[in-house]
Amino acid sequence: MPIHIRRLAEVDIAVVHRLGLKEPAFAFQEVQCFWTEDQLRAWFASQDDICLGAYDDGALIGFALTVVHIPTGKATFENLLVLPEARGQNVGDLLIGAMLAILRERRIFYVCLLTPNASLSGYFERFGFRHEGAFAWHARAP
Ligand SMILES: CC(C)(COP(=O)(O)OP(=O)(O)OC[C@H]1O[C@@H](n2cnc3c(N)ncnc32)[C@H](O)[C@@H]1OP(=O)(O)O)[C@@H](O)C(=O)NCCC(=O)NCCS
Repeated sequence: MPIHIRRLAEVDIAVVHRLGLKEPAFAFQEVQCFWTEDQLRAWFASQDDICLGAYDDGALIGFALTVVHIPTGKATFENLLVLPEARGQNVGDLLIGAMLAILRERRIFYVCLLTPNASLSGYFERFGFRHEGAFAWHARAP
């Protein structure tokens, strides 16, 4: 069955939360963490933001979460994850392609993202992202 992309919904919250918590790329200040279920619920319900899931035969195998800031027309691609067993089949490409198509439709052209290391730059360059280099990321833990 072909991979199907659709918006994430209430029913996906628990599985997205569980998968995100396990992904080492999403660790923050060396601590394994992810958005809470309540945060995901509000995010998926947002009319501005774009949260997409990839499904194989009804099972979630990947997701992409983007924040859209309407006043500035800026989108921040926050999380992209493909299940380890589903990697290498272009599922990430399908999610990014669908995300960028929605942003284009809405005339949002400035899109930025962070990667856990520079080795993923080549992956995102194929979609027109350019590694902007020497920014220092600062974060204040809650
Ligand atoms: C990054 C990730 C989403 C990729 O998803 P995927 O569906 O497995 O992607 P694929 O392996 O099918 O790669 C698709 C294409 O990108 C290429 N690619 C993969 N990694 C690459 C890299 N580092 N540099 C350049 N190209 C790369 C592949 O060769 C493939 O090209 P092809 O179609 O010409 O063969 C997945 O590995 C993942 O979930 N990683 C953990 C979370 C993470 O790091 N997320 C990104 C930061 S938020």
